[in-house]
Amino acid sequence: MARITLRQLLDHAAERGYGVPAFNINNMEQGLAAMAAAEAVDAPAIIQASRGARQYANDIMLAKMIDALVEIYPHIPVCMHLDHGNGATTCLTAIQSGFTSVMMDGSLKSDGKTPASYDYNVDVTRQVAEMAHLGGVSVEGELGVLGSLEHGTGEQEDGHGAEGVLSHDQLLTDPDQAVDFVAKTKVDALAIAMGTSHGAYKFSRKPDGNILAMGVIEEIHQRLPNTHLVMHGSSSVPQDLQDIINRYGGKMPQTWGVPVEEIQRGIRHGVRKINIDTDNRMAMTGEIRRILTDNPGEFDPRKYLKPAMEAMVKLCRARFEEFGAAGQASKIKVVPLATMAQRYARGDLDPKFHTQRDAAE
Ligand code: G3H
Ligand code: 13P
Ligand code: ZN
Repeated sequence: MARITLRQLLDHAAERGYGVPAFNINNMEQGLAAMAAAEAVDAPAIIQASRGARQYANDIMLAKMIDALVEIYPHIPVCMHLDHGNGATTCLTAIQSGFTSVMMDGSLKSDGKTPASYDYNVDVTRQVAEMAHLGGVSVEGELGVLGSLEHGTGEQEDGHGAEGVLSHDQLLTDPDQAVDFVAKTKVDALAIAMGTSHGAYKFSRKPDGNILAMGVIEEIHQRLPNTHLVMHGSSSVPQDLQDIINRYGGKMPQTWGVPVEEIQRGIRHGVRKINIDTDNRMAMTGEIRRILTDNPGEFDPRKYLKPAMEAMVKLCRARFEEFGAAGQASKIKVVPLATMAQRYARGDLDPKFHTQRDAAE
């Protein structure tokens, strides 16, 4: 059984200086594709499901799918993570479904669109961390609100994302506040805001430091060297995927995502988890459009879903390699949840110490 917690995986990544892409899934095809890519390059996997994915697929289906993926790929450590949980109940029900990690996104209120106060964020995130850690489950928090530094608004994904115009202070995580937040909440990983947003329309031009503030990551990493940082909204929105979609009947306006080299720069400064959904959506949609356009008589979903999965495998594989996660899976000895729970109970959380001990055990 190779179900791993986010904490153990990111401790390993931190010690060896790599990053782990976290791929969103909503269905069997995406789950199989992410895992096939991980196996192809011997990478540990983070599979994440949003609230929208849980509504789409049903928690029971997702829980059984995680079991199946673990069984099909027994040599790949897989962290099953809740993306953008909006309250303690959402996090707890994910844990009950077998998730080994949850994100409590208290940067927004539980409606998923109203920016929350700092005190609210601290309270709700601390509450979830206390609860999750009792069972050894990891917690990601978020400080700062995701949104564009170009126009000050967030991007809605299935109803999740800030509404209205945000100030620069809200859009850029404050390093002093980050230190206080981590101390008070005891999160295992911290998502920070520095100009990325969800979806395809992140930047109206190739981003520079004015609209993709990587300096914020460097500053926070200096202040919090032992905290694992998370980049959301980190699809690169590759030009070739925009082109294939548009060549086969799509109408996506020209747009820019987060360049892979900027993510690699983040990885050199403490970024350990990189969230990617849009790129896989685009990879699959491009293939489906191409096949149905070239074969208008086709009506067997397997004929377009299989190539769509292959397109996703290609994308995931590239990100595993680019972020340095390839070749790491076989170096990890998975620690059970019960052991993680004991470590939290003892306050025994030095990442370097852990990884060395995990290898020795
Ligand atoms: O949080 C953003 C992810 O892309 C998930 O999107 O809420 O549409 O599933 P979703
Ligand atoms: P993208 O929309 O850039 O893929 O981001 C996904 C994400 O951050 C999920 O939490
Ligand atoms: Zn996100």
